Amino acid sequence: MEIRIFTDAAALAEAAADIFEATITEKPNAVLGLATGASPVLTYKALIERCRAGIISFKDITTFNLDEYCDLPQNDKNSYYTFMQENLFSQVDILPENIHIENGNADDFDKEAAAYDEKIAAAGYIDLQLLGIGNNGHIGFNEPADTFTEGTFRVKLTESTIRANSRYFTDSEMPRYALTMGTGSIMKAKKILLIATGAAKAEAVYNAVKGPVTPHCPASILQTHPDTVFLLDEAAAALL
Ligand code: F6R
Repeated sequence: MEIRIFTDAAALAEAAADIFEATITEKPNAVLGLATGASPVLTYKALIERCRAGIISFKDITTFNLDEYCDLPQNDKNSYYTFMQENLFSQVDILPENIHIENGNADDFDKEAAAYDEKIAAAGYIDLQLLGIGNNGHIGFNEPADTFTEGTFRVKLTESTIRANSRYFTDSEMPRYALTMGTGSIMKAKKILLIATGAAKAEAVYNAVKGPVTPHCPASILQTHPDTVFLLDEAAAALL
């Protein structure tokens, strides 16, 4: 596991964009695993700028998002579909048919989850997976639990995650369930890039990097991945 610490958020985002650029330059039809939330926003901005400047192109790129809320309309302002359209997809040259996000309104969640895993496998698995980390150590929506998860599944969100994400749901109630890639799906990615900023993440980052490998801190499994890099600001790295 490689750890890099930055004094400013813009430099961190450029370093993350450099890693994307290297992957896309080496493999223009790479498969990217993408995250939502506050952590990747500046990185997506940097990728949009590089796409506009002709440095990278998404025209042959395939993407799979980590997760999506269940029972929230796809076009709700808080859906991860909307987040991805607004923060990346509508501003780069990606083909709509190459974008994959779980359908949180599927009639049969188990079938949707299995089909999602099959699509990832058919695409040749993920070349570069971007992650944030929850204050409780979650990656994707793999919440602290007694066992690590495998493929995509429907998860009941923990109180800690509901507390952390409710701030976005100002005029509707935050969903209690989500579909998420499992830790097993995430670990199959060839390279993993985790971004964490702010003091609220310091304990989770410490447990992920220095703690035991345990499903009680799902991100700790990344210690066993052969090619993982953590990009942190000083506040998130404070306990290391
Ligand atoms: C988002 C996701 C989550 C977030 C995590 C951190 O797709 O899978 O694991 O990465 O909750 O969220 P932020 O970046 O908003 O602090």
